[in-house]
Amino acid sequence: MKNISLLLLCLFVSIISFAQRPDEKPAKLLPLIPLPKEMTPSNDEFILTDKTKIILTNEKFKPEVNYLNSYLKTHYDLELQVVSNMPSDGNYIMIAQPDFEAGWLENYDLTMNQNQIVFIAEGNAGLFYGLETLIQLMPLEKTKEIKISCAEIKDSPRYTWRGMHLDCSRHFFSKEEVKKYIDYLAMYKFNVFHWHLVDDQGWRIEINKYPLLTKMGSLRKETIIGKPAWDKDGKPSKDDKYDGTLYGGFYTQNDIKEIVAYAQVRHITVVPEIEMPGHSLAALAAYPQYSCTGGPFETYTKWGVSDDVYCAGNDSTFLFLQNILAEVCDLFPGKYIHIGGDECLKERWKACAKCQKRIVDEKLKDENELQSYFITRIEKYLNSKGKQIIGWDEILDGGLAPNAAVMSWRGISGGIAAAKQKHNVVMTPGKPCYFDHYQAKDKTKEPLAIGGYNPLDSVYGYNPTPKGLTEEESKFIMGAQGNVWTEYITDFSKVEYMSMPRMAALSEALWTPIDKKNYKDFVSRLKLHSKALDKMNVNYAKHFLNQK
Ligand code: ACM
Ligand code: ZN
Repeated sequence: MKNISLLLLCLFVSIISFAQRPDEKPAKLLPLIPLPKEMTPSNDEFILTDKTKIILTNEKFKPEVNYLNSYLKTHYDLELQVVSNMPSDGNYIMIAQPDFEAGWLENYDLTMNQNQIVFIAEGNAGLFYGLETLIQLMPLEKTKEIKISCAEIKDSPRYTWRGMHLDCSRHFFSKEEVKKYIDYLAMYKFNVFHWHLVDDQGWRIEINKYPLLTKMGSLRKETIIGKPAWDKDGKPSKDDKYDGTLYGGFYTQNDIKEIVAYAQVRHITVVPEIEMPGHSLAALAAYPQYSCTGGPFETYTKWGVSDDVYCAGNDSTFLFLQNILAEVCDLFPGKYIHIGGDECLKERWKACAKCQKRIVDEKLKDENELQSYFITRIEKYLNSKGKQIIGWDEILDGGLAPNAAVMSWRGISGGIAAAKQKHNVVMTPGKPCYFDHYQAKDKTKEPLAIGGYNPLDSVYGYNPTPKGLTEEESKFIMGAQGNVWTEYITDFSKVEYMSMPRMAALSEALWTPIDKKNYKDFVSRLKLHSKALDKMNVNYAKHFLNQK
């Protein structure tokens, strides 16, 4: 009851304060990305000082209040007192719940005037997003009086899967760098970090039962320099040059627990990717018995796709993968495990007696159906552990596993097909979701990158819900994701260059209602926001600075 009267009082004060005064100047452009669903800026300023109190009406929001206080401590060297009753003097930030339960766990309302800031959120995630909005409104310089431009905001995301991916196999990024990446995701209200931990070029996750995965599979003896050359027959060229330098790195299980917890505080679910049946050469370098030929193999030193993949005819391959996945399930509390599934060449399976016997025994039509058998068998195991699988769109070939979600990367047709089959979908078509592509037309002025041209405005303009789906089918489009493959991204500074500010543009495509999006307005806000990126020493691409 006390909370409700407090709320009514706050709302009354808010309404009075938001009444338009005739002498008011037009509202300022606020540096908010992604743009909130509904926002009315005012010309009021709230001045946050060490006297400002936080009124916490429900202890469940304590972690988010701690997050705010720790932000204020780091950036302004101040910490606010947390109280449960209305203070007798001074201004305050009030955190409250609505007096109904609607299940809108990512929504928040934020009302502000010179005396009060009031957050109303049902879920902790909603409050967290509100705090990220507030943080974007704070000044960049360290000051004792933090002047915050006021606005009235009602906010909620357009999609439930707002993802960013990072390939830590082709190049390895330290625990601290991964945390920095997660900070960027949090700033833009992403809620999924897709962690590409395993590929032909390096196994990066410690698995207690199979220590050779990191002892051998995390290392490659050298790395190709630049782009691979191809002979006329389409085979890799003998002219490729290598750097002759041992390369490696992996995350211990403790590192992983630390990163998952770090992400959790920021309401980001970490989805680990354990590639199968292809992209598995680093694992097979350590455990060649799970291949079709028996090896020996070396962790891949070049880019591209290896012919050698897990043997689908050998039951012990499945036991090996299930034992790995059991440890993975224990480390990652989220619902989804990404099992890869992309670009599995079928040459070895065609020549393998065990794989061919499996095709006959299981009455499968061909190697595509063998892949479907492989994924379905792994899905059954993961479902038994309470997890759902998600895989690249090749898992549609030969038939989708019954409960699988699909990540559509070879364009959008896989996503459309999966949605029509009533399977959940994450859209991540190369254009515009691959952030390893060039950001400018003149490639000679850009650092080495893969493939084509994927500029900021294409990312911004992306609509993850494709035409041609019914309203019912569209509900299976959970959202979209930006992918940062790192063949040509050797250090974290280049991760920043390739992903920023395209990540900011994608965040708005995933959060803001489509009718509120406007590229010109986004660029204006990005120019203001870029000062925050400068302050954070982010190596972002600056092409937008010349755009009007
Ligand atoms: C992919 O880019 N191979 C998913
Ligand atoms: Zn085989």
